[in-house]
Amino acid sequence: METAPIQPTTLRNTPSKGILDFDQKLGVLMSVLGKRTQWELADELLKRGSYELKLVTSPDTLVQSFKSWRPGPHAHDPTGDAGRTFLDCATCVLNQMGCTESSLRTIISIGSVDDLINLLPETLVTPEIERLRKRDAREEGMLVVRLATETRPPSVKEDYERGVMDQRLCYLAPDAAAVWDAVAKAGTYRQYQQCSEALEAFLALPKWQEFCREQAPDGAIALGAGSASKDLMIIESLQSLVPESRPKLAYRLVDYSIYMLTGTEAAIQTGLRDVGSWRPVEVVTLCKDFTNLKPWRHLRRPGVPAAWFINGGTIGNINEADFLNSIAKRAEVGDWLMISMDTIPEDAATPGGRERFTAELKDKYDQPYLRELLRPSLAAVWPYLDYPRSFEKALLEIEVDIASGTQRRHSAIPNSLSVEFSTAGGNKNVVLLASTRYVEQSFVDYAATDGFKKIDSIPSRKNPRYKLVAFKYEG
Ligand SMILES: C[S@@+](CC[C@H](N)C(=O)[O-])C[C@H]1O[C@@H](n2cnc3c(N)ncnc32)[C@H](O)[C@@H]1O
Repeated sequence: METAPIQPTTLRNTPSKGILDFDQKLGVLMSVLGKRTQWELADELLKRGSYELKLVTSPDTLVQSFKSWRPGPHAHDPTGDAGRTFLDCATCVLNQMGCTESSLRTIISIGSVDDLINLLPETLVTPEIERLRKRDAREEGMLVVRLATETRPPSVKEDYERGVMDQRLCYLAPDAAAVWDAVAKAGTYRQYQQCSEALEAFLALPKWQEFCREQAPDGAIALGAGSASKDLMIIESLQSLVPESRPKLAYRLVDYSIYMLTGTEAAIQTGLRDVGSWRPVEVVTLCKDFTNLKPWRHLRRPGVPAAWFINGGTIGNINEADFLNSIAKRAEVGDWLMISMDTIPEDAATPGGRERFTAELKDKYDQPYLRELLRPSLAAVWPYLDYPRSFEKALLEIEVDIASGTQRRHSAIPNSLSVEFSTAGGNKNVVLLASTRYVEQSFVDYAATDGFKKIDSIPSRKNPRYKLVAFKYEG
């Protein structure tokens, strides 16, 4: 099948001057406000925008300026009084209409028209507005990035008082992607490789192939960035299995950390370019908390089966109850959910077995690159710690311990065990990160209460305790 080439990764093809997709954006505003002419729109924006936002007050002045922000050789940036008035009033009026994303003003100014439409509350998006969308944003190398506003960001003080830091802090640092890459590639940390093996075996399962051929999902939803090579394996599988009646695939990547998200998106685009002549794949990135998913239009297409993946043992770092609940709210009956997890050896309940398991885990995690991953979390709590030695010493002194997941409230799954990474000095021992392992059947039983029924469980070849467990959502 002939397909358009994948474009280089750029955040967007922003013109050097003017407002990107300006005419279409005016169309969106006119439609939302029920106005037929640009003059009526300018008049309405000035009437409804707050008083202090108006650096110009005449609709004629505003309409005259519209001409100069249309992208082209003679375009101007909207930096003067009229430009600022337009951006501020348009943001203010859309805010009044329920569009409260913090990135709104930026998106009006440098986002694409699709970005703007995606930010509107669903009730405002009429068929007339849908028609203003670009037909194939991907061809222009666009990346849809939204800022996380729905979920409360981590509160360091509260986490310190609780004695457990929010694990999202580990990835909220500008070099998070590079640090995670070093962990994933480190020869001593075999989990990335084991997860890839289990995923590869899963993608070869006749059941998965049948799901793709018969249910024809329009792509996949990856929960967590940082594993472009696995994302590409999934995309490759969908490309070869999903019938060509789906002319385009969508790969949706959800991650709370903008740093992880953009790095992985770039790597996926590069990988797609290398692969070449496939049908188009739209890569959509959502900077959101996947334990609190909302019904965003761009998360999935209603009525089209979806395949959700959470790879790399990330499940062990998060609250599984919130996670399963969040997916169950957005899943449709017949969707598949793939969770990769580390499991507990059968003899872990015996004293000797537990000792062996503890020693194995301590050895696995007592690694310098893993300490690097904890640096942002330690830095966040550092002002509260009153640590008697230097920050670098504190990083070296982080302790690794094993505890019951439920007793320590890291996990909702009965019989789970959590590896805790904690500070070991100062006025309090604080858990910087916990990583939970499961008894597979206990996890499966728990997931069933949220409507997820186990389909299969695929172990990694090199470490049969590391598994990808596939579920079907039955509602
Ligand atoms: C361990 S790392 C990457 C694992 C990787 N996907 C793999 O397969 O090896 C976990 C990722 O999940 C993201 N993450 C953790 N909690 C999250 C949450 N509640 N919502 C969205 N992203 C989250 C982090 O920002 C980070 O990028």
